[in-house]
Amino acid sequence: MQKIDIVARAHWPELAAFIHRHNRRSDGRARCLHAEHGDTADAQASEMLAIPDGEACFVAARAGTGGEWSGMAGCELDPALGRAWLRGPLTRDADDAALQVALIHALEAALPRAVRRFDAFPQVSETALRASYRAAGYRDHMQHHVFCLERPQAPPPWPEAVAAQASPAAAELAARLHEQLFPDTYLTRTSMLESLDDEHRLFAAEVGGTVAGYVYVQDKPLEDEGYIDFIGVSAQARGRGLGRALLDAAVHWAMVERGRPRVSLTARQDRTPALGLYEAAGFREVAAGAHMIKVRTA
Ligand SMILES: CC(C)(COP(=O)(O)OP(=O)(O)OC[C@H]1O[C@@H](n2cnc3c(N)ncnc32)[C@H](O)[C@@H]1OP(=O)(O)O)[C@@H](O)C(=O)NCCC(=O)NCCS
Repeated sequence: MQKIDIVARAHWPELAAFIHRHNRRSDGRARCLHAEHGDTADAQASEMLAIPDGEACFVAARAGTGGEWSGMAGCELDPALGRAWLRGPLTRDADDAALQVALIHALEAALPRAVRRFDAFPQVSETALRASYRAAGYRDHMQHHVFCLERPQAPPPWPEAVAAQASPAAAELAARLHEQLFPDTYLTRTSMLESLDDEHRLFAAEVGGTVAGYVYVQDKPLEDEGYIDFIGVSAQARGRGLGRALLDAAVHWAMVERGRPRVSLTARQDRTPALGLYEAAGFREVAAGAHMIKVRTA
C-alpha cells in the first residue's frame, strides 16, 4: 500500500499543478467539480492558498519514498458547521479504485472529529470515481446542473425592479428570505450578511415595502467569472418576472461592473422553475455533478 501523508501548505502549489493536470478529462470536463478552480495551475494554487488556516486539508500518496505523487484528496472545511467539501480523489491512474478509497479514508481521518458531514461532487459521468465514493460509504444524493453564461454582445441593463444598493434593513430582510428558502445551506443568514464586501454582493427586489426576492453573487477574480450562489423569490411573488430581474442584476454586476466574461451557477435537478429561468436567460449547461454525502457516526 502506498504511503499517504498530509500535504504541508508549502507544497500546495506543487499539489495544485497535480490537481490541474489530473482533474481535466480529454473532453474538457472536470472529474471533480469541487476541485475545479480556474483555467491554470497558478489560479488553482492561488485559490488553495487563499483558504484560511484550518479551513482546508489535503492528503497525497507517493509511490515509494521521495517518489512522484500518485494521488491526492482534499477538502475545504467549516469546523463550526461540522462540514467538509471534498476535492478529488484524483489519481495518476484514473481507475485506481483501491487508492481512491484509501485517499478518501485518509482524508476523513485527518480532519477534526467535529467534521461529521462530507459532501463530494464528482461529474455525473465519472462512474469509476462515483463507485470509489460509494465504496468509501458515500450515498448518492441529488444531481446538479452547472450552468454558464458567456458575455453576450449586450449584457442586460440594470433592471428597474432591483435596487442598485440594498439598504441595511433590506439586506436583513433578504437574508431572512434566504434562510426561509434554503434552511439547510452552508451559507447562513448571518454569514451571508457578514460576507458582504466588494466581491460578495446581495441585491434585493422590494414589492409593497418588503423584500420579495434577492440574489447573492460573488466576483471570482482568480477564475475570471461571476458566480451566483443564491437566488430566491418569496412564494407569493413568483411568476411575475422578479426572478429574471434579479438574475439580470447579478449578470449586469458581474459582467459590466466587474468586467467578467462569464457567469456561472449550479442548480439542483429538481428545481424546475430555476432551471427554466436560467435557460430562458441564455445560460447553457456545462457540467452535471453528482452530489454524494457521508455522515460520520460517533
Ligand atoms: C427560481 C425562482 C427564483 C424564479 O423566480 P420567479 O420570480 O418566479 O421567476 P420569473 O417570474 O422571473 O420567471 C422567469 C422565467 O423563469 C422560467 N420559470 C419561472 N417559473 C417557472 C416554472 N415554474 N417552470 C418553468 N419555468 C419557469 C420561465 O422561463 C420564466 O419566463 P416566462 O415567465 O417568460 O416564461 C423562484 O421560483 C424561486 O425562488 N424558487 C425557490 C428558490 C430556488 O429554487 N432558487 C434557485 C436555486 S438554484
